[in-house]
Amino acid sequence: MTGPSPLDALDCPVASGIYIHLPYCRSRCDYCAFVVSTDASSSGAYLVALGREMELLGPETRGTTFDSLYLGGGTPSWTPASDLGRLLDGLRRPFSISPSAEVTLEANPEDVTPESARFWAASGITRVSVGIQSFEDRELSAVGRRHDSAAARRALDTVLGAGLSVSGDLILGLPGQSAASFRASLSRLIASGAAHVSVYLLETEKSKTIEEDRRAHPSRYLSDDEQAEAWLAMGETLGHAGFGHYEISNWALPGREARHNLKYWKRIPTLGLGVSAHELWNGRRRAVVSSLPRYIGDLAAGIRPLAADHLLGAREQAGERIVLGLRLSEGVPTREIHDRIEDSPDATLPQDYVSWKEERLLEESAGRARLTERGFLLSNEILCRFV
Ligand SMILES: C[S@@+](CC[C@H](N)C(=O)[O-])C[C@H]1O[C@@H](n2cnc3c(N)ncnc32)[C@H](O)[C@@H]1O
Ligand code: SF4
Repeated sequence: MTGPSPLDALDCPVASGIYIHLPYCRSRCDYCAFVVSTDASSSGAYLVALGREMELLGPETRGTTFDSLYLGGGTPSWTPASDLGRLLDGLRRPFSISPSAEVTLEANPEDVTPESARFWAASGITRVSVGIQSFEDRELSAVGRRHDSAAARRALDTVLGAGLSVSGDLILGLPGQSAASFRASLSRLIASGAAHVSVYLLETEKSKTIEEDRRAHPSRYLSDDEQAEAWLAMGETLGHAGFGHYEISNWALPGREARHNLKYWKRIPTLGLGVSAHELWNGRRRAVVSSLPRYIGDLAAGIRPLAADHLLGAREQAGERIVLGLRLSEGVPTREIHDRIEDSPDATLPQDYVSWKEERLLEESAGRARLTERGFLLSNEILCRFV
């Protein structure tokens, strides 16, 4: 067994992060399985509950500085300016937030206007993650997106014009998407001036609507081989454009990696506030309940409603270091992975590890083991073996 990472120490010297989940959306996109609500009637009470959760957590964080905030959803960009301003001010009361913190807001293109972007910049937001998904109108409407390609383009220009750092999300595998149309969407995102690109393979099993559609109309979906080919070609295109592939789904221009998201993969402590939020704090993995009424009701009674609260043992921490670390292109120390293999009850793991190296899914060099581009594609099958 390896010893604990310095980051597991309770008095961790690395600045921490805070995730805040804002669950409200105007409508639900067909593919989405995040905890969202299309009934915004509770949004006022929700913000009050978030304020209470902050006050409850504040004392646990004495001595900690936070240098990243992430407002995710849901549709955080739909939050009225006055509420968003109050939320950000509210965070600064119980928590010590660095003046140079990275503050990310997830935005849907239809919410981006010159006024909203100016307000976001003035209220301390530094980075906007725009959900583009595709620049093809047919592909957008097929999954219930409320914006078209022109609105996505305008949103990117507007956010950049307000001086904010921009990330764009795309999905590979949308119904009706071809390899060529995906390539065209990627080129448009690269040309937009975004410094960060996230590309997700459509997770069809997360949505009944999409899964049923895929079964009824398989020809509307790229095959696994076509997706793999498009994925590898995408890596080359982004590489030529100067983007580094730093995590399975994430590419960035040099120095523009997402500071907050890196904390998840490096296991740097982060708090998670709001329904369904997850956190790693004081060596514990905790998750907030997903039920909105329960969240609002319990916090009104002064209770933080947790669905999970688990102190990680040394073996679990070692497993997490590998499973999360292998998501990053920097990989993990070879010594840790070999210790894990020796320690594993899975008798077939040593031979499979050798096969992964022979098949060039994984490579070892300079004392680190890392997945190759093809290995990233098969990461689900590889990573689950180290849990
Ligand atoms: C929290 S979501 C939503 C952000 C924002 N509300 C939006 O819709 O643009 C963040 C990203 O997850 C991705 N995503 C959501 N559901 C997915 C799925 N089933 N498969 C793959 N990617 C998904 C989308 O790219 C989305 O932009
Ligand atoms: S993809 Fe975004 S807008 Fe669509 S339902 Fe999910 S969180 Fe809401």
